[in-house]
Amino acid sequence: MADSSWPRVDAIAYGGDYNPEQWPREVWLEDVALMREAGVNLVSVGIFSWAMLEPREGEYDFAWLDDIISLLHDNGISVDLGTPSVSPPAWFFHTYPEARVTDARGTVMGFGSRGMASHAAPEYREAVARMAGALAERYGDHPAVVLWHIHNEYGVPVAEDFGPRAVASWQRWLKERYVDLDGLNAAWGTAFWGQRYGEWEHVVAPAATPTIANPAMKLDWARFTDDQLRECFLIEKDAIREHASQPVTTNFMAHQSWNVDLWKWAELVDVVSDDHYLWSPDPDAHVLLSLAADLTRSVAGGKPWMLMEHSTSAVNWQGRNIAKRPGEMRRNSLAHLGRGADAIMFFQWRASRSGAEKFHSAMLPHAGTDSRLWREVVELGDDLKKVASVKGSLVEADVAVLYDWESMWAHELEWRPSDDLQFRERIRAHYERLWRDNVTVDFAHPSHDLSRYKLVVAPSSYLMTAESAANLTRYVEGGGVLLVDAFAAAVDEHDAVHPGGFMAPLKDALGVTCDEYLPLREGGSAAVVMDDGTELRFTAWAEDLKLSGAEVVATYAGGPADGAPAITRNARGEGHAWYLSAMLSTEALASVYERVYADAWVEPAGLPEGVEVVTRRGDEEDFVVVLNHGDHEVRLPMAGTDMLTGGVPVSEVTVAGGGAAVVRVPLTGQGGEA
Ligand code: GAL
Repeated sequence: MADSSWPRVDAIAYGGDYNPEQWPREVWLEDVALMREAGVNLVSVGIFSWAMLEPREGEYDFAWLDDIISLLHDNGISVDLGTPSVSPPAWFFHTYPEARVTDARGTVMGFGSRGMASHAAPEYREAVARMAGALAERYGDHPAVVLWHIHNEYGVPVAEDFGPRAVASWQRWLKERYVDLDGLNAAWGTAFWGQRYGEWEHVVAPAATPTIANPAMKLDWARFTDDQLRECFLIEKDAIREHASQPVTTNFMAHQSWNVDLWKWAELVDVVSDDHYLWSPDPDAHVLLSLAADLTRSVAGGKPWMLMEHSTSAVNWQGRNIAKRPGEMRRNSLAHLGRGADAIMFFQWRASRSGAEKFHSAMLPHAGTDSRLWREVVELGDDLKKVASVKGSLVEADVAVLYDWESMWAHELEWRPSDDLQFRERIRAHYERLWRDNVTVDFAHPSHDLSRYKLVVAPSSYLMTAESAANLTRYVEGGGVLLVDAFAAAVDEHDAVHPGGFMAPLKDALGVTCDEYLPLREGGSAAVVMDDGTELRFTAWAEDLKLSGAEVVATYAGGPADGAPAITRNARGEGHAWYLSAMLSTEALASVYERVYADAWVEPAGLPEGVEVVTRRGDEEDFVVVLNHGDHEVRLPMAGTDMLTGGVPVSEVTVAGGGAAVVRVPLTGQGGEA
């Protein structure tokens, strides 16, 4: 049995979700032949197969799965074996109606779609453990099975359950956390609006309420929900571990994982895997792709990770499902690779004829092999073989962006000073600034050791514990440069305003605190003027700052804080901390970052517009991935070998509009053979 943390595939893994149960057996033969033609070496099987594997309770049918796994194995294709817990069969919900999920308004979810049963239902927990155990017992030693894929995208489509059993689990969870009701009453501030609890059974779920529910309660509810999902994952993982030792994963959704704190989840999997889909309305969706990839690599602790799903072309679940342009799938795939993915996988292998996802693209489209999409799929398989030596190399970053799911949960609750300042928008605005300046970043949690970074950016840290603030202060004192964006450190872990007011725990580091938030009316804007005269427009948000040692770098010109400090810089210990109180766009942030980079000795690479360059470092060489998202050819000076064009030595890399290159640059700095 395998025991490494990476699935045993001697190449960049290439393939996708494979649902053979949707097809007659003669199609399976064609499938494996075409998989070989495309260079597919790994497929995910069984994710939605519960109804086929256990057609009646306790009656298993593994024969078809035995057959397909053998067929794949005989053709040199490895298997990532799914546990089907995301889609219990009709009989399960018929027999155990209490295991259905109840939403906040008390509606019980029906069968006929997909999504998890109630995470609190003992019947569900027992059934998934039995199924995972049975699969592991049967396939734990199978040479084709190189990875376990538990569940599918925890947290979607359903995470929360407001049914009576979930509420009973919630009360148990709260007792463990707070021990006595005095602790809970204090943490939640229940003196407000007369919410004090005298009995544990009186603590209900934050379901439908006449006006907003206690925010501290909702924040704990989010933590509880995440914990429950992790418990369900561990039930399956433990059941697998009784019989099998292949690595275990579950597919995350990086920046789109609303309900699951990936810092915690990543510790439980052997290998991190992620799903990513472009958001069609966004013409620069490739920026969010890079963000998701960097976030995934970061939760993986910098280690290589697997792109478990993306699409060859259009998805089917957006308002307007935009097909990818020629070359776009290749660029997307290489962008993930450049940012640390050693597996490039898709949803799904063969387009489904029936069901909810028939308009979703696939590796093998409805149009068959005489199609542009198929030809691009075969070419990508070929490309991945050419860059196989990239496998195992690492991405290095000098800059970290802070990302904290708990802060997001708290920030996104109701009744904030303005709806216009949002967690994900702020993360994106700062990330995009760094992306456009071609500065590679890691993401980090505010409690992490940050000392190896030259610059740490905190775009959206509404919730910040006193411990994290102390950590950031130490980072600055030790010589780091910190850039903190607006609405920072307002509350503690219970969504309670910090004693001393907004930003009090960061006062030493920043040399400034905030007396009052001054949001703008909808559509409003004003300016801040930097000390060199540069004027930057801002929207939505301003603050009334109180200086306690910081110098003023920019002043408000117009708007509710006219004439008052807007951007500050504070010397503390060996480092500097910047505070940015106005909401600036990616474009406007450029002038601020220019100054911050200078403080931090970060040198942005001047690249033509729309060109993305990211480097993976191997033992003896750098692998430089160059992606041209623009329409015109670009040339970049670079001495190495162009791996995609057959290892030709180059002193300059030429990339056509929409094209990509991977250049191997020996660490001696001289070009050589690929
Ligand atoms: C993913 C999901 C897949 C498929 C895909 C379609 O979120 O894991 O099963 O539904 O979306 O884009």
